[in-house]
Amino acid sequence: MFVKNIAVCGLGYVGLPVSIALARHFDVIGFDVDSQRVSRLRDLDDWTGEITPETLAKSTLQLTSRVEDLKGCNFFIVAVPTPIDERCAPDFTMLKDASRLIGSVLTRGSTVVFESTVYPGATEEICGPELEKSSGLRCGVDFKLGYSPERINPGDTDHPFEKIVKVVSGQDKETLELVASVYETVVEAGVFRASSIKVAEAAKVLENTQRDINIALMNEMSKICALVDINTSEVLKAAGTKWNFMNFTPGLVGGHCIGVDPYYLTSKAQQLGYHPEVILAGRRINDSMAEHVASKLIQVLAHRKRLASTTRVGVVGITFKENVPDIRNSKVVDLYNELGRYGINPHVCDPLADPVQTKREYGITLVEPSMLQDLDMLILAVPHKQSVELVYDKLNQMVAKDGVVCDLRSVLEPSRLRSDVFYWTL
Ligand SMILES: NC(=O)c1ccc[n+]([C@@H]2O[C@H](COP(=O)([O-])OP(=O)(O)OC[C@H]3O[C@@H](n4cnc5c(N)ncnc54)[C@H](O)[C@@H]3O)[C@@H](O)[C@H]2O)c1
Repeated sequence: MFVKNIAVCGLGYVGLPVSIALARHFDVIGFDVDSQRVSRLRDLDDWTGEITPETLAKSTLQLTSRVEDLKGCNFFIVAVPTPIDERCAPDFTMLKDASRLIGSVLTRGSTVVFESTVYPGATEEICGPELEKSSGLRCGVDFKLGYSPERINPGDTDHPFEKIVKVVSGQDKETLELVASVYETVVEAGVFRASSIKVAEAAKVLENTQRDINIALMNEMSKICALVDINTSEVLKAAGTKWNFMNFTPGLVGGHCIGVDPYYLTSKAQQLGYHPEVILAGRRINDSMAEHVASKLIQVLAHRKRLASTTRVGVVGITFKENVPDIRNSKVVDLYNELGRYGINPHVCDPLADPVQTKREYGITLVEPSMLQDLDMLILAVPHKQSVELVYDKLNQMVAKDGVVCDLRSVLEPSRLRSDVFYWTL
């Protein structure tokens, strides 16, 4: 087996950085069904903010939304979304579509590597058969499967694709070596050869589940700290002096990885007759946080006699986490809606979120920061770098005398705020 041309299917947060890195060493075609995404990338505009226009301009990556252009490729990488449906069950629609699409151009001797996060078994049980159906070829004989989970962390410039050890796996020894050799070319941190595709799938979903549960523990602890009237950050600071204490903080868990991937694992477990308890408890706690925060904030406003039909609340940050423009499954939206149930309609600003997309997806109109004036409560929901500076710089205009600052991620130094301001955090 050898690699002729590589096709990367799905040019989002994962697929684009992978394609750009591989294109430094191979002939790579980047394919996306979203023709708008392709044309904006051709115009050197990556809306995810992960790849600069200069890097796009220099890259030899070919961009297309025409599946025919993938003919002739013999190494495929799939990085399409794997969301959950409204019942929190895995939604394999896009993964199946991508498999069928690749199957339509697949030739004997090719390798198809999946990067999308799934449960252990999905690549061979779901993607393999779809590829077989649409190609008429036999999986494991005419073409081979690989799996290499992605670990990039959007918005985190310290850990780019090249600097994170890449777990690789293959259907057989020969495929494992081929997949390893491709990624070894570009991943400076090296690759880890997992013993099977299922092991690699399970490793990825475990990484994100572990993070979800650790945050859930912190969220539960913050509820207990509130009951005993102590500050969670101070408890974490003290506990953090122990050598093996793990550094997690309470907060809203949104986005399309941490809050989603555990459901892939629990769904597989349930298929096999096991009912996971810890994982689902973590999910319940994290999913309840927006409601919890809203009710706490209402209590704070009431205690400070600032709860009225004229109460002015401003929210800074609507994306699902800091330093990314991604608004998908943002739990700040849940918080906004919860406050709405109490009759409060906050003004929201976010320097990174796309106003058109935010309006279309959630019906929320983003405003300029200058609109956040004389507030009863300012909620720093997502601490983008520039938003933290904004709060420090404009606090006097933004927050009324004796107003409240809610710092959801505990990033502000209370000593830098005005002394009349009431500081609240999880
Ligand atoms: N974003 C992350 O931080 C991250 C990190 C690690 C793993 N993952 C996993 O990687 C996978 C991809 O995530 P993402 O964040 O890059 O998603 P994304 O939504 O940013 O990008 C996916 C792209 O795939 C395209 N697409 C959808 N169906 C397609 C098809 N049939 N053929 C070709 N293109 C198609 C979409 O148009 C989109 O541009 C998911 O399984 C996710 O869980 C994501």
